[in-house]
Amino acid sequence: DGQMLPWNGKSHDVYSPVCIETEDGPKRVYIGSYPVCTEKEAFDALNAAEIAYDNGRGEWPTMSVADRIKCVEKFVHEMLAKKDLVTKLIMWEIGKAYTESVKEFDRTVEYISATVDALKDLDRQSSGFQIVDGIAAQIRRSPLGVVLCMGPFNYPLNETFTTLIPALIMGNTILFKPPKHGSLLHYPLLEAFSTCFPKGVVNTIYGRGADIIPPLMQSGRINVLTLIGSSKVADKLKKLHPKINRLRAILGLDAKNAAIITANADLDLAVKETIAGALSFNGQRCTAIKIVFVHESLSEQFLEKLSEAVGKLKLGMPWETGVNITPLPEPDKPDYLRECLEDAVLHGAKIINENAGQINESFFFPAIVFPVDANMKLYREEQFGPVVPVLSFKDIEEPIQYLIDSPHGQQVSLFSNDPEELARLIDPLVNEVSRVNVNSQCQRGPDVFPFTGRKDSAEGTLSVSDALRSFSIRSLVAAKL
Ligand code: G3H
Repeated sequence: DGQMLPWNGKSHDVYSPVCIETEDGPKRVYIGSYPVCTEKEAFDALNAAEIAYDNGRGEWPTMSVADRIKCVEKFVHEMLAKKDLVTKLIMWEIGKAYTESVKEFDRTVEYISATVDALKDLDRQSSGFQIVDGIAAQIRRSPLGVVLCMGPFNYPLNETFTTLIPALIMGNTILFKPPKHGSLLHYPLLEAFSTCFPKGVVNTIYGRGADIIPPLMQSGRINVLTLIGSSKVADKLKKLHPKINRLRAILGLDAKNAAIITANADLDLAVKETIAGALSFNGQRCTAIKIVFVHESLSEQFLEKLSEAVGKLKLGMPWETGVNITPLPEPDKPDYLRECLEDAVLHGAKIINENAGQINESFFFPAIVFPVDANMKLYREEQFGPVVPVLSFKDIEEPIQYLIDSPHGQQVSLFSNDPEELARLIDPLVNEVSRVNVNSQCQRGPDVFPFTGRKDSAEGTLSVSDALRSFSIRSLVAAKL
């Protein structure tokens, strides 16, 4: 509600994935603490958002589009003034390479500016009258109410703002819970929320999601849930809402994107794109390639080239130049990845490359695992880390069947230099996933493209103009002539 609440005495200590040497070995560095809201404080924030919305009659939802845009532009101005601090916090909190943290910040600013342009277009299209069959109608874009917004740890700034900004600019009011890893970096921006927008329009709640989010959902007072994160959590939260048909959900969820390398692929290109797709930011991207199907005629060569390329990746601290593999923010991730590798080996796979596996509390050097089969965790689970499961196939129907059986449906990378083969395969693949990348890695960008998924991978569509539509309703005023 435009003010910082006094500290209630409860806080959460944040440790960087960056470790320092101690007498007991390397330990994560303490970098700060954030306050932990009580349930009552979370409800105070919800009250503020509801009052600011005032059933669509509040200052913000009734403000002209041009004035809302001015507020968002002022916010961007404030954000830019905090760029140095925010990017360094991204680096320290989630271990993202400094250059990538800067890119995340810049990409967010570009996204906001593209959103403003798209809104101007949308507003132009929506205004004016249509007369059909003797009825004159003015079609509008109206907001939906209070939006509960939660972003992920891997793009704590960018993915948060790809939902928060479109929701906000369409006239909704916001309840924002920053991600557990990636909370401190939002702190420098909180003041700008209160100076750039009317009171109660953006309300930030810090704390343990598991404690404060379920009661908010159970209250039935959240109109839109937007979450980039796990399918299981989203499903659980949606079910808590007492009137689920009144809840709109805009979700970016689990994915197990496959790369399919046919016998006609350019192998060097496939290797290069697989490295970027599977291992950039340590494989911690929802769009990462998380399983590779390679035609049996190329598998030996592919594994050789892939191992060689992985061997050249530079492991280091996120501020080092040219670093590829950085520390993992989730403390339990190295153990989980180790379990996946043990499980794969137990079921007959091999770790193909040298030096793979856990190095210390937070470093994990990438592992290529082959041949993966349906009995292994790595076949279906979304590892979200630096492990590349590979299997070979004889018949193209094998990877297609994998996608048909999969609960996920975000993206696929298809590698082939044969135009006829590509033409044959694209349609069956588009039926299973929402984006087919031809001879390139899976990725979200350019951000003006629609970003979504089939099956359990998404609900609604994100990215600029799609997001503006997702966070609003097309309503009309009609009069009989
Ligand atoms: O983690 C999910 C992100 O949306 C991935 O974005 O493909 O640009 O890395 P990206």
